[in-house]
Parts: sequence; structure tokens; C-alpha cells
Amino acid sequence: MTPMELVNLAIEAREHAYCPYSGFAVGAALLTKGGKVYQGANIENVSFGPTNCAERTAFFTAVFEGEREFEAIAIVGGKAGEPVKELCAPCGVCRQVIREFCDDDFKIYLSKGDGTYFESNLINMLPFSFSKSNLGD
Ligand code: THU
Repeated sequence: MTPMELVNLAIEAREHAYCPYSGFAVGAALLTKGGKVYQGANIENVSFGPTNCAERTAFFTAVFEGEREFEAIAIVGGKAGEPVKELCAPCGVCRQVIREFCDDDFKIYLSKGDGTYFESNLINMLPFSFSKSNLGD
């Protein structure tokens, strides 16, 4: 699975977004260490707070299925009904959810949907974080 293949699966996942309030559709594709991909999209709520981001949809689906080891995630977002134009970085809540299951070198790919991608990792996106090690695990 190349980064661009993962980005393309995130672009495909974005089609499943339920985002009537923001009109901003996000897609994610999460690659496990075993090579399986879990897709996710944002699912909004009229009460706003219960909205689930694309990244968390993908993570929670994977974790529910028993997955615990992850390699990378691709994320794309932009105005619903239009192609992606700008990079969409994961929100702070999603970064903390990623921290729960992933090492510092977990890869994060962002794309403008133009055939290129920006590569980062968890330690760069969430430095000096609160993690399991703080509880002595
Ligand atoms: N959103 C995501 O799905 N992922 C992010 O990391 C950023 C924000 C969603 C939440 C909401 O449905 C919409 O984008 C606008 O904030």
C-alpha cells in the first residue's frame, strides 16, 4: 500500500460523509500494521457536540474489530460536493485518539487531492502529549 493509494482510499471515504451542518466533508483511510485498511468519514449531529470526525470513525471501526496496531492514516477534507483543494490537518481530539493507539512514528498523510501528499507523523503533530505512560503503563 503506497501513501497515494491510501490517500485515494481517503478520497473515496469522503463520499460517505454526513455533514449537513458544516458542508465540510472529510475522509480518512487507516492502514493497520497487518496491511488492512479501515475507512472513515465525518458524521455530524444537529447538536454539534456529538459530531464524529473522519479519523475517529476509522479508528473506532478498526478498534471495534480488534485491531490495535497501526501504520499510517491518510486524511482529506474540503467543501462537500467539490474536489479537495487544501490540506486538512487532524483536529486536536483526533490527535489524542491517535495517541491512544499509535507510536511516535505513526505516519500521517495529508493531500490536496492533486496527486501529491504531505507526510508527517504523530510526534510532530502531537508533541509532549499525555499518554498511557503518564499513568505508569
Ligand atoms: N472534521 C473531521 O472530520 N476531521 C478533522 O480532523 C477536522 C474536522 C470534521 C468535523 C466536522 O464535521 C467538519 O469537519 C467541520 O469541522
